[in-house]
Amino acid sequence: MSEHIATPRTTAVVLAGGTGQRVGLSIPKQLLKIAGKAVIEHTLAIFERAPDIDDIIVLMAPGHVPDVERIVEKAGFTKVSRVIEGGATRNETTELAIAAVGADLAEGEDANVLFHDAVRPLLSQRVIADCVESLRRYQAVDVAIPSADTIIVTRTHGEDGEFITDVPDRSRLRRGQTPQAFKLSTIRRAYEIASGDPNFQATDDCSVVLKYLPDVPIHVVAGDEYNMKVTQPVDVFIADKLFQLASTAAPTQVDEDAYRALLKDKTLVVFGGSYGIGADIAAIAKSYGAKVFPLGRSTTGTHVENPEHVDDALSRIYSETGRIDYVINTAGVLRIGKLAEADNATIEEALKVNYLAPVQIARTAYKYLAETKGQLLLYTSSSYTRGRADYSLYSSTKAAMVNLTQALADEWAGEGIRVNCINPERTATPMRTKAFGTEPEGSLLSSEAVARTSLDVLLSEMTGHVIDVRQQDPTAGAAAASGFEAALASVLDRQGDV
Ligand code: CTP
Repeated sequence: MSEHIATPRTTAVVLAGGTGQRVGLSIPKQLLKIAGKAVIEHTLAIFERAPDIDDIIVLMAPGHVPDVERIVEKAGFTKVSRVIEGGATRNETTELAIAAVGADLAEGEDANVLFHDAVRPLLSQRVIADCVESLRRYQAVDVAIPSADTIIVTRTHGEDGEFITDVPDRSRLRRGQTPQAFKLSTIRRAYEIASGDPNFQATDDCSVVLKYLPDVPIHVVAGDEYNMKVTQPVDVFIADKLFQLASTAAPTQVDEDAYRALLKDKTLVVFGGSYGIGADIAAIAKSYGAKVFPLGRSTTGTHVENPEHVDDALSRIYSETGRIDYVINTAGVLRIGKLAEADNATIEEALKVNYLAPVQIARTAYKYLAETKGQLLLYTSSSYTRGRADYSLYSSTKAAMVNLTQALADEWAGEGIRVNCINPERTATPMRTKAFGTEPEGSLLSSEAVARTSLDVLLSEMTGHVIDVRQQDPTAGAAAASGFEAALASVLDRQGDV
């Protein structure tokens, strides 16, 4: 007779009861905005997406429960079953969570619980899946990474300060992260025993099991270097940079009809639309029934760097169609060379086409896009994260596109105008061929693929994002790496790219 073992309910407990004194701001650090969202919103979104997680309980710093409720409502998280106040210490917060999870269970029913620090917003889906998998065999699971630093043990001798008393073997040392995952019955029992100990003291939950239930093995799952805890002021900066790195994918529409329905009767203006990515966007959008106006130097005589040309083009299109929904600028020039050797004309051309033009286009497009709550779409290059010899004009003007995107997304949010920036990997375009000659087949992204993603971004609700388009999306497929792993890998890959 085969016995059916039902998977127990798995609850993620997000510990957010602290105030973050070490960061030293007036609001709890889990409410700090990083990459446009509160830290805790990033964390909740991870568990919301995790297929193994059935529900989420949040233990929030006293007085801030409504802040979390607002975040949950606005983001539309469906798994968050309750938001309650945490305790005075992290362990008290855990105890309150144990009671809350237990309250939702039937008599004698056990559950899986994953305790996770709200201030680790870069947790990967892989770690969650490994924790849940490990709970099939073990009652207690920790997540840890090797220590790169040598860890020393010290003792303080009065005024003289600290002295080393031990240097443990680094190869056996690990840095504990979260989640820490348990069978509810196990962690509850550990805390019951601990409550009888007047000297009880701990900074995590695995140490409670280790001390009070020494016979229970605690399995260790590999964590991630970037599953960092936002603790010190510098961590806010590092986490922000890591989020900036991560690629943001635009949702695709379910089928061709959906594209048709969304684009029918919409007006799309493409500066730099005579060839390359711009021409492909124009062709695809047109095939879905949009009214498309590709503008180019060689075709319509539109010089993007000339504000009058831009102004004339947009007002003519507006008077013809009565609306402008999307303004896209793919025009760009790429000249390789040393700055000290560049002549004035080259410098002016680069600044005008790559920087002044998008600024003028944005300024002129504003009033039309405000009417339709439309979108401005700009283009950057993978070299924007790091300037490189021989590309000073191109890379720096492309970096400016990212900053301009963020600034305008912010500035125009009130009017409902979205602003995004596409970051294509090396793409087969006439601009590229002109600069680099013919490159090996298969080494370049097709301009059509970039155009497709551009269209998905136009049709999405996203704003203020830099969307990476890579040849093969490493985040796709069953072996899905996290966005961060993919982004980090691609930064390494791209060291030589422009
Ligand atoms: N935590 C909690 N309840 C507490 C204290 C901490 O739920 N009474 C949570 C924090 O909100 C955080 C996690 O435990 O998500 C890790 O705590 P840590 O960052 O070390 O502590 P904080 O108290 O938030 O920060 P600090 O020590 O700098 O004040």
